[in-house]
Amino acid sequence: MRRTTLVALLLTVPLFGCSNEDLEPRAEQSRAAVKDFMLNLKGALKQAMEQGGAVNAIAVCKEQAPAIADDLSTQKGWRVARTSLKVRNPSNAPDDWERKVLEDFDKRNAQGENPETMEYYEVVEESSGPVFRYMKAIPTAHLCLECHGESIDAAVAAKLKALYPADQARGFKAGDIRGAFTITQPLTPAGEAEG
Ligand code: HEC
Repeated sequence: MRRTTLVALLLTVPLFGCSNEDLEPRAEQSRAAVKDFMLNLKGALKQAMEQGGAVNAIAVCKEQAPAIADDLSTQKGWRVARTSLKVRNPSNAPDDWERKVLEDFDKRNAQGENPETMEYYEVVEESSGPVFRYMKAIPTAHLCLECHGESIDAAVAAKLKALYPADQARGFKAGDIRGAFTITQPLTPAGEAEG
């Protein structure tokens, strides 16, 4: 009798009782979405830089990055965004959970872990209920330095300053973690089909 009760209890444990193995399908879906986001954005960015240099490409980051994030969010029913400890656009600022993960990414990077594959995910209890949260580190490549590096061309710097007077996203070096993709997936309440 005792044992049956225990088994029944274990079966109804809410989703945050899940091991990482149970969350793996959600992590895999998140990875695929992040890959989409990255390929889309990098393609548009490279093309714009080739056509008109960094001054021209600022618009891609300003307009297309949030547009791709919004499209993915609508398509998946998730919240998909980019964030950083040093943001250019204040609306990309991290929340407390994201800040902790970003700080941890910096530590892991300093310890020699490859930032290309660095990620973190878990189920987090929010006021609306449990959600699945996923973050994937974004390493700084050479291409990024024209707008996020230590020495930025004067014309680019002037345009960035005009658009983002509170810009903190400068002074990065190749290999630094520039920020992260961040995904929140709603979870169906415990006991329902999913999970
Ligand atoms: C042509 C200039 C330019 C280049 C090159 C560029 N960025 Fe940005 N980046 C921006 C702008 C402008 C924003 C602000 C976008 C917005 O308003 O949401 C931004 C924002 C970001 C953000 C969101 C967080 C924040 O700071 O607001 C991340 C992450 C980021 N860039 C990473 C990268 C990476 C990684 C690369 C290289 C692959 C890169 N950027 C190359 C101009 C650039």
